[in-house]
Amino acid sequence: MNKVDVLLGLQWGDEGKGKIVDVLTPHYDIIARFQGGPNAGHTLEFEGEKYVLRSIPSGIFQGDKINVIGNGVVLNPILFKEEAEQLAASGHDLTQRLLISKKAHLIMPTHGILDKAYEAAKGKAKVGTTGKGIGPTYTDKVSRNGIRIGDTLRTDFKEVYEKAKARHEAILKSLNFEYDITETEKQWLEAIEYMKRFRFIDSEHYVNRLLNEGKTMLCEGAQGTMLDVDFGSYPFVTSSNTICAGACTGLGVAPNKIGDVYGIFKAYCTRVGAGPFPTELFDETGDELGQRGHEFGAVTGRKRRCGWIDLVALKYAVMLNGVTKLIMMKSDVLDTFDTIKACVAYRVNGKETEDFPFSIEESIEPVYTELPGWKTDLTKMTSEDEFPEEFNAYISFIEDELGVPVKIVSVGPDREQTIVRYEDND
Ligand code: GDP
Ligand code: IMO
Ligand code: MG
Repeated sequence: MNKVDVLLGLQWGDEGKGKIVDVLTPHYDIIARFQGGPNAGHTLEFEGEKYVLRSIPSGIFQGDKINVIGNGVVLNPILFKEEAEQLAASGHDLTQRLLISKKAHLIMPTHGILDKAYEAAKGKAKVGTTGKGIGPTYTDKVSRNGIRIGDTLRTDFKEVYEKAKARHEAILKSLNFEYDITETEKQWLEAIEYMKRFRFIDSEHYVNRLLNEGKTMLCEGAQGTMLDVDFGSYPFVTSSNTICAGACTGLGVAPNKIGDVYGIFKAYCTRVGAGPFPTELFDETGDELGQRGHEFGAVTGRKRRCGWIDLVALKYAVMLNGVTKLIMMKSDVLDTFDTIKACVAYRVNGKETEDFPFSIEESIEPVYTELPGWKTDLTKMTSEDEFPEEFNAYISFIEDELGVPVKIVSVGPDREQTIVRYEDND
């Protein structure tokens, strides 16, 4: 077992990260989120219950593991309180096992308003954000105007808050954007007091100390590689580094501590929000993928756009993250298709390329390879031995294209519907 492994999405998010982090949790001592915030919605299903986590790591359901919210995360106290209270009500009290970095940034009520105002000002070029204030909060962090969790302990916190709010109000005025945060602000300040029952820590010191003592950590990515602010389909991206390097900056762990990088992807592809999506399907096949996969956002309830697997984008994601093990999700969604298509190249201005280009415009045409469907119900299978030949062929095809083994295959949303294809020797 390596000291630090990272699990992250290789597509446009919602690959099934929450489910697999929960499945892998028994192998680790610490589970940590390193970027993103309540724009995430990570679903877990087990023992007939379903949970959706936004800011809290997906390691909280498997015994007494330590869960850390790292410095790279942005937190909205109201949503955090809501999430933690719901979990406590269902018998999962987290106060002793959830630790929050003092360096994580706070999403203020005005950040949410700014998010909506910027989107409105973009007109047709809207990103289709989750409206949770993610972009404005990271903007304040980078422009050195942010407020951090640790600042809530300052005696002059209210002044710090008022100053930041006044700056936001001036921007909103210039955008002629109407809003009222009176009630939200009250809830926000109350939620900050609530948060203080959790331990605020210098997480970089804490995590490294435990690692030096021989403990192991799994870092849980949010969003996906194609939403990375540097390498994703910019500007239709989120505002953080979702790639493996984000685990180093978002937790303070050095790159040489990282062992395995689990790259997780759906057996097809989805995207929620605006922006290019080369393999998107606008026909009945797209609708069938959406219906069979229940492709509606875990947080916003928005319909997710659906299409075939895009191996050009996946190859790019494998390269950027140094993926060592692949995890294929939602294989069962393809159970009914006669033929399955996989995009192996893009045709740009009449020329084929397998390299992910500077920008993926609408003019990109996907080049497909067709594979026979397996037309078999995978959902009750518990071992690889039961897999139909065509399904094994689909897995092998992806492994050959991406040059990385598929270690885990998921055949349904439940924790139990997970098949590990090989055990590690380490
Ligand atoms: P995350 O954001 O990456 O954690 O993924 P989401 O929770 O947003 O979306 C994944 C959705 O697919 C959730 O509703 C899961 O319950 C569901 N899911 C996960 N794995 C499978 C699977 O193998 N098959 C099916 N049918 N659903 C799955
Ligand atoms: P998880 O962790 C899917 C998308 C939004 C929008 C863009 C920017 O559940 O996989 P933002 O609010 O971050 O500024 O929105 O990113 N987006 C996600 N799409 N899954 C997510 O998270 C997402 N988080 C953000 O839809 O297109
Ligand atoms: Mg999600």
